[in-house]
Amino acid sequence: MFFDRKEELKALLSLISYEPNMITIYGPINSGKTVLLMELTKRISREFAIFYINLRGRFINSYEDFMKVLFSVKEGSLKELLVDVLKSGLAYQGIPIPEKVFRDLIENKNGDPFVFLEDYFRELRDKERKPILVIDELQVIGDLKVDGPLIYKLFNFFVRLTKETHLVHVFVVTSDSLFIEKVYNEAMLQGRADYFLVDDPKGGILRPQGKLELLAIRRALEKL
Ligand SMILES: Nc1ncnc2c1ncn2[C@@H]1O[C@H](COP(=O)(O)OP(=O)(O)OP(=O)(O)O)[C@@H](O)[C@H]1O
Ligand SMILES: [Mg+2]
Repeated sequence: MFFDRKEELKALLSLISYEPNMITIYGPINSGKTVLLMELTKRISREFAIFYINLRGRFINSYEDFMKVLFSVKEGSLKELLVDVLKSGLAYQGIPIPEKVFRDLIENKNGDPFVFLEDYFRELRDKERKPILVIDELQVIGDLKVDGPLIYKLFNFFVRLTKETHLVHVFVVTSDSLFIEKVYNEAMLQGRADYFLVDDPKGGILRPQGKLELLAIRRALEKL
């Protein structure tokens, strides 16, 4: 049974009706963040293509591990896989690409994976499907280093996808307030992301009328 999250769903749907932005969804463990996003994916209209990637429980110790989570190797050409995404509007376990393209990306033969992804998303956008990228449990890669902290490169990429190119809505989901604080303290991100609180003050017991506020992260952290 899905408890009423009408207000939250309305707010999320409204957010994606505007220019793409980076949204950090924060809420304590068990507050219903993942379920809320799953519900959003079910209600989303045909104009979007949503990529939901959950890092929970994934073993990510290297760049290659991260790439294996970000992408999902599938049978077929890149063109065919894009057609599938255009048809369904949904991809739950990574961004579908052919094996050969994936290998070349890992070995850097196709150049920068971020440039590849930007083209991938642009292709969808050109076909009237607005991409939405959801990364659940992002703190899992909080300490991963690939020529420096990967997380900052990733956020830089998200800023590129949102503020600069207006191509993709990016949702970053986490229950780790220290992680958010660390990211917030980076000058790079200040003023570049919105924050969405999925509130559950009772710690584990879902409040059907969960209060929602769009607010600056400082205020969210003060409340904890
Ligand atoms: N709107 C809802 N209606 C009914 N059950 C819900 C709802 N939202 C969450 N739940 C239930 O509450 C539990 C926690 O939900 P969920 O996994 O979405 O929380 P979360 O905030 O993503 O937690 P975590 O931080 O551990 O990832 C799950 O068992 C889920 O089925
Ligand atoms: Mg979750």
